[in-house]
Amino acid sequence: MAIGLNEREPDHGITIDCFDNFHMSESSSEKARKQGVDLKEGENTEPWVANTLKPFGHVTLHKGMLDKRTKWSGGPISVYVDDASKYPHTFYRCLKIFGPSWIPGETTVVLMDYWLFRKKHNAHRVDYMRSQFDFITSHPDHFEEVDDLKDGTCAAFRYRRSLDFSRFEVPSVKSHPAHKAASWIGRLLFRPKHNE
Ligand SMILES: C[S@@+](CC[C@H](N)C(=O)[O-])C[C@H]1O[C@@H](n2cnc3c(N)ncnc32)[C@H](O)[C@@H]1O
Repeated sequence: MAIGLNEREPDHGITIDCFDNFHMSESSSEKARKQGVDLKEGENTEPWVANTLKPFGHVTLHKGMLDKRTKWSGGPISVYVDDASKYPHTFYRCLKIFGPSWIPGETTVVLMDYWLFRKKHNAHRVDYMRSQFDFITSHPDHFEEVDDLKDGTCAAFRYRRSLDFSRFEVPSVKSHPAHKAASWIGRLLFRPKHNE
């Protein structure tokens, strides 16, 4: 996208804004190592990403969890790519932050994990992973699939008609499987004995 912007007249005024926690996970650290990049688990990846993308220009990084503190300027969004929200809490949180800035008839919405719930290894948590699919399919007049951008678990849609994002609720973060697992383990560890 940044390379594309470099081909435009310099006064285009378009920005690429990237929201991420920029925190190295164990699995990503291993993947990076295989590519010759030494970033340890828990490390802040923002400086490395900023430095790597610097030659392309146009990219602004916003470090932090996508939560109620996340702010968007309200400027119109022409291409929206979500590669972070596999679960309902983050997906709906982002919809409420960024959705009002989508432009009916123009914005392309790219959901990188749209079909993830159909993968065999996710059979035990389909309900947590199909919020994107449920959202799009329950608004057939508002979204039209862009066939050219089908790829793996990714799907893309043209935003056709305006939606009132204020009517959507953000599901509790407690619905996140990791939270459920932690609370289940917690209950096991702290379960009182019958004679207590
Ligand atoms: C599948 S990776 C994609 C990263 C990037 N799009 C790429 O292709 O390299 C998902 C990223 O989203 C971040 N992420 C997931 N949930 C997040 C959240 N709630 N808030 C902020 N970042 C989150 C992860 O840390 C990870 O960097």
